[in-house]
Amino acid sequence: MLDKSYRPYGLDPIETASRDEIAALQTQRLKWSLKHAYDNVVAYRRKFDDAGVHPDDFRTLGDLAKFPFTAKQDLRDNYPFGMFAVAQDKIARIHASSGTTGKPTVVGYTQKDIDTWADMMARSIRASGGRPGMKVHISYGYGLFTGGLGAHYGAERLGCTVIPVSGGMTERQVSLITDFQPDIIMVTPSYMLAILDEFRAKQIDPRGCSLKIGIFGAEPWTNSMRAEIEKAFDMDAVDIYGLSEVMGPGVANECVETKDGLHIWEDHFYPEVIDPETGKVLPDGERGELVFTSLSKEAMPVIRYRTRDLTRLLPGTARSMRRMEKVTGRSDDMMIVRGVNVFPTQIEEQLLRCDGLSPHFLIELNREQRLDVVRLHVEARADYADEASRAAQAALLAAHIRNVVGIGVDIVVADPGGIERSGGKARRIIDKRPKE
Ligand code: DLL
Repeated sequence: MLDKSYRPYGLDPIETASRDEIAALQTQRLKWSLKHAYDNVVAYRRKFDDAGVHPDDFRTLGDLAKFPFTAKQDLRDNYPFGMFAVAQDKIARIHASSGTTGKPTVVGYTQKDIDTWADMMARSIRASGGRPGMKVHISYGYGLFTGGLGAHYGAERLGCTVIPVSGGMTERQVSLITDFQPDIIMVTPSYMLAILDEFRAKQIDPRGCSLKIGIFGAEPWTNSMRAEIEKAFDMDAVDIYGLSEVMGPGVANECVETKDGLHIWEDHFYPEVIDPETGKVLPDGERGELVFTSLSKEAMPVIRYRTRDLTRLLPGTARSMRRMEKVTGRSDDMMIVRGVNVFPTQIEEQLLRCDGLSPHFLIELNREQRLDVVRLHVEARADYADEASRAAQAALLAAHIRNVVGIGVDIVVADPGGIERSGGKARRIIDKRPKE
């Protein structure tokens, strides 16, 4: 835990600017961003034209509501690079996250975008209580996922010593924490609990370890989980939010001194909350779906991107920028399993590749030994109902899902007709994971 004398330091001027100053900056940047998207991305030009709006129609922040939404489907329709607004030789990096089926959602960054991302991540780590010179153990996955590299560049930017561990190999995580004595850990909250269990299995007192701050995100977690982790490790646990389409981690972050929701870095991301059914913009304070417009992104501007995350906007506290309440759920059926985003449609797609299995399925989510476990209930077709065929089909499906979706699943093959048929909308997911 940080000591009581903690005071935020080294804030960017905009973090304490007046609301008027923030709104003026947002208005100016939105003008640029709308025009940039319209002039350089065919998909945006078409959407704006179809909706009968032009970037010149934007004069004040309220005008943004005239512009059409963007959804994951738009990125899918323009796979892989059709949403990019700059030439390929200006793209410095590409990341990707799960699409609803088959192809991932691809995002790109110019060098300036990478720089802004590092700045926002450095700001997030600083808001969490981090300082130059601290050692940061990063257990978010490195690779196409934005977690690892996003955290890495931000920690470097702040002037920290980075320990780029990536995810997995829990025993090694514990020995590296014990040996290298990091001050900060950045990891999904569910994996932090697995690390905690490993400490206990090794009979190492977690309260005695060097960690002072945990920066947890990429999946929903509760205040009771915060309390458990803080007590177990004697550390401060703060929430970090982000999504690849908007940038990656570091779109919003809690301040360690208040831990009262996540301040959105509104100088780069303009938030709205809408009614997910009607698309109507809701006043601050009302719960709905979070929508973001990027204000400075060059490579892949997003205009009114529907995150599907449910939350509400609250006034600033520790910073003048608005807060979002902890994300509690989504307005679609995306699951987050051990930090990996998974859509039921991705599972269905792999199931349809198995001749011996019917297309009926049910996904059961459990938490065992702190980790998410997916049990997939499927059913054999009549001519594959013998024991050996079932086992072979289960192995085949598990391999497809591991290779394509990237998660391990236990498969239970029921008799033909064994999966309950839906009378209407199929119920695909039973989430038995504890909510608190
Ligand atoms: O999960 C980026 C990230 C990495 C954020 C590391 C924080 C830490 P995606 O893979 O594109 O990006 O998944 C984005 O994850 O729309 C939310 O549904 C969920 N999510 C991310 N952070 C949180 C959080 C990264 N703090 C999707 N609380 C988002 C709840 C979160 N859900």
